[in-house]
Amino acid sequence: MSVPAPPHGAHYSAAAERNRQPILDVLRQTLPAQGSALEIASGTGQHTAWFAQGLPGWTWQPSDAQPDAFASIRAWCAQAGVGNVRAPLLLDVLAPRWPAELSAHREPFDALFCANMLHIAPWETCTALMRGAARHLAPRGLLIVYGPFIEREVPTSPGNLAFDASLRQRDPAWGIRRLGDVADQATLAGLCLRQRVEMPANNLLLVFARTPGVHQTAP
Ligand SMILES: C[S@@+](CC[C@H](N)C(=O)[O-])C[C@H]1O[C@@H](n2cnc3c(N)ncnc32)[C@H](O)[C@@H]1O
Repeated sequence: MSVPAPPHGAHYSAAAERNRQPILDVLRQTLPAQGSALEIASGTGQHTAWFAQGLPGWTWQPSDAQPDAFASIRAWCAQAGVGNVRAPLLLDVLAPRWPAELSAHREPFDALFCANMLHIAPWETCTALMRGAARHLAPRGLLIVYGPFIEREVPTSPGNLAFDASLRQRDPAWGIRRLGDVADQATLAGLCLRQRVEMPANNLLLVFARTPGVHQTAP
């Protein structure tokens, strides 16, 4: 499975190119053979195309808060020749209600996937992501979050410390999030951290599931 040079007009992320296969490896171990996924903050669309190709039993719904991402998402998917990707949706996690189109499809989703958004968006997006996941996930669905995190028990790498400082300099509302704070927001939404997977380059892949016995989430 290989994707050649970026298609014409597509955005390109070197990090996405590096981390797509390690993430796919974990997705394959974590997810069942079939299902439907909503991807939050799809960005360039490199992940969308790679995961749709690598998980052929899944239907993949990309989305982003920026409509200018859509052409790139489409271009990567067209180049990969994947037929299991829906048209990208405009979805800002901070919107009180997520797009009506979601309910027109096969809802609820078996997985929500979100990579590299929480540190490059205001903290409120974490609360919104957790609440949205609780609204849109099937009872046994999983929320999978990938990116850098700060952990109380684990020394933060020099690279992540420098990255955090640069993010906060660009926008004081941005910054690498504390895993404990993220897990707290999940708990408030009725989810719990089920799995923490160490990934290359000091990133984590976090798997959240519904908290057993908790069926209600805040609106
Ligand atoms: C660093 S990019 C990550 C893209 C891709 N997931 C990846 O890992 O390569 C961050 C993405 O988050 C999106 N984003 C920022 N704020 C958002 C929000 N409130 N709701 C949804 N997406 C948002 C941006 O538009 C951008 O595409």
